[in-house]
Amino acid sequence: MIINSNLKKLSKTYLFTQVTEKVENYKKLNPGVKLINLGVGDYTLPLCDAVVKKLREAVNNLSKKETFRGYGPEEGYLFLRESVKKYYKTKGVDLDTDEIFISDGANSDIGNVLELFSKDNPVLIPDPVYPAYVDANIIHGRKIEYLNATQENNFLPGIPKDEVKSRIIYICSPNNPTGATYNYSQLKAFVDYALETGSVIMFDAAYESFIKDQNLPSSIFSIEGAKKCAIEICSFSKIAGFTGVRCGYTVIPEEMVYEDSNMNKIYKRRLAARFNGVSYISQMGANAVFSREGTEQVNENLDYFRKNAKILSSVFEKKGIFYTGAKNSPYIWFKCPSGMSSWDFFDYLLEKFNIVGTPGVGFGKNGENFFRLSSFGTLEETELATEKLLKL
Ligand code: MLT
Repeated sequence: MIINSNLKKLSKTYLFTQVTEKVENYKKLNPGVKLINLGVGDYTLPLCDAVVKKLREAVNNLSKKETFRGYGPEEGYLFLRESVKKYYKTKGVDLDTDEIFISDGANSDIGNVLELFSKDNPVLIPDPVYPAYVDANIIHGRKIEYLNATQENNFLPGIPKDEVKSRIIYICSPNNPTGATYNYSQLKAFVDYALETGSVIMFDAAYESFIKDQNLPSSIFSIEGAKKCAIEICSFSKIAGFTGVRCGYTVIPEEMVYEDSNMNKIYKRRLAARFNGVSYISQMGANAVFSREGTEQVNENLDYFRKNAKILSSVFEKKGIFYTGAKNSPYIWFKCPSGMSSWDFFDYLLEKFNIVGTPGVGFGKNGENFFRLSSFGTLEETELATEKLLKL
């Protein structure tokens, strides 16, 4: 049997697995040491009451003959797509429910949407960025080019200056790991570029709920022309702690047409062949996020993490260390002290301060000498970490 040789091209371990392995190893060697985990961006607050109530109701429905449901629509239940549509309306974006596809989270759909486009299209991925983009494209055997995000451009690289056509361009804004967020005119430049070159933008909006600044767009569809050239991928993980429940959504506009083919219709056809939909239970829970009660409770949680981000960023303010993020993002991205490499600083923080973070180089070569801290920890741990970091 000949295997997909692209799989052999993946880095030996996925970034977060590598971090977990190092941490587990440290724990084994240092039993009893309490670690502060500001590494992976995972929620530390429980699901909010409104969500839990609906999850219970869903289980209850499945337990009775009259309300039991089997297979659901692969694109997701209409009740949830209606709620997502209303949510976008609050951002000034008009969507049709047929343009919304409920997914099991952003990570899967980052790879799934690639099946819409030929492997011959070059892919442009920011560096540094969430490593799943690179991995998904390596598995597909695509040619990857990088868009350099550096301290010089505040980790917000602009459009490429070359003439390459038909690119698949990934944008993550607010960015993971840097927290840097594009403004309207910066995103408009990407949309214009995509329209001119026949390219497509894969817009990862997983962290949109952290945007507080009214001058920053939280959807690519706030930009004129984007419906012709962009796909938006989002998730309930970071807004409502669905990292374990699993639910997200992807928007593929009806207006998106390449080679006379309606990409929305093609994706729907592909979905029927490849996916039986997200669990009814998860979708019921996700729908509660948009209820009045759910919105209030979710916002309280987001404020909790925003406060953590502010507390953490105070370290870098006080010390005058370059950092991005924290303001419209749950991540703080900063330069390692004394020119340390990302992994050396990881070891240093772990061993000296018992703090777990994420080495910047794990997100791409431009992340070398940088480091990411997550504000998804508990307030107590965040305060303790801040105290320790101030002594650094
Ligand atoms: C991260 O820490 O970058 C993310 O939480 C990982 C993920 O979303 O899969």
